[in-house]
Amino acid sequence: MSNKTILQVENLKVWFPIKRLFKTPLYAKAVDGVSFNLLKGESLALVGESGCGKTTLGKTCLRLIEPTFGRLIYDGRDITHLSGKDLKWYRREAQMIYQDPFSSFNPFFPVRRILEEPLIVNGVKSKEERINRIQEALQEVKLLPIEDFINKFPHMLSGGQRQRLAIARALILRPKFIVADEPVSMLDASVRVEILYLLKELQISQGISFLYITHDIATVKYFSDRMAVMYSGKIVELGEIRKVITSHLHPYTEALIEAIPDPDPNNRNVERKVIPGEPQNPVAWPPGCRFHPRCPYAMDICRVEEPPMNEVESGHQVACWLRIKK
Ligand SMILES: Nc1ncnc2c1ncn2[C@@H]1O[C@H](COP(=O)(O)OP(=O)(O)OP(=O)(O)O)[C@@H](O)[C@H]1O
Ligand SMILES: [Mg+2]
Repeated sequence: MSNKTILQVENLKVWFPIKRLFKTPLYAKAVDGVSFNLLKGESLALVGESGCGKTTLGKTCLRLIEPTFGRLIYDGRDITHLSGKDLKWYRREAQMIYQDPFSSFNPFFPVRRILEEPLIVNGVKSKEERINRIQEALQEVKLLPIEDFINKFPHMLSGGQRQRLAIARALILRPKFIVADEPVSMLDASVRVEILYLLKELQISQGISFLYITHDIATVKYFSDRMAVMYSGKIVELGEIRKVITSHLHPYTEALIEAIPDPDPNNRNVERKVIPGEPQNPVAWPPGCRFHPRCPYAMDICRVEEPPMNEVESGHQVACWLRIKK
């Protein structure tokens, strides 16, 4: 991992209009002012509960959803409004791995064809080169021996093998940046760690930068270097994994960490805790800090003014009035 930035996200907002008959439209503010840097070769985990805007943020970073406000700088180049050929270039540089690869594969295509398609679309004309690249990708994700897999159809593969195929498809155009959106949440516990280790290996051997989206903090330490905690369309805490887990600074991070179930199957007394209160509605965020209605430490200022992101110690940032010295 280097200190160079591959993707710079600046005050990104993604608002979805909700049409109302004869009334001015309202907006679902799925992402509402997010800034962070993704470093070259790092894995940044993006965690937060359902509906907080993780997928919308990930897809917008890949330009699969149009940003409403803000800027995206990739490798020094402004990609916020790329189109045509330039956008096609970015689509080769940056790829997505989805939670459920099965629904994104054509069930009538064998593995070879699934992997060949992106190469054909992107103008790899030589058949020999395409075959070489397919073999290389299968090797990288350890779908071996290759002859056993290359003519199989998706339904003939196990969940873990299908996710390996999805990773091979993401790798085939040799991207430098991958958004992995809950890549292991649909897999059996026994194969989850295997797939995360495979992603880790690729991150290190190929220097790929990852945005790893998950609602499960228990998996982040296997794969990520830093962690961003998202709440109601905003990032509320960002720092090294170890720091965020052991010396978290935001009450929401504290609640998320307390909600991690005990991995020891013999300990039956520990149940998964639920974070009290309802998540907020993206159409009407409360004034002040968005977490204040659920925060056990809320003060007067939290109800009226939104806390800015503040670097409390080197590389560890938090948006919380409790951490701002007045
Ligand atoms: N196309 C859309 N139109 C309107 N609202 C949308 C659209 N896409 C997402 N939203 C809303 O934006 C918010 C964020 O959704 P998003 O899917 O990004 O959350 P998430 O953090 O990925 O959740 P999960 O953990 O359940 O996958 C949600 O309230 C969702 O209903
Ligand atoms: Mg999602």
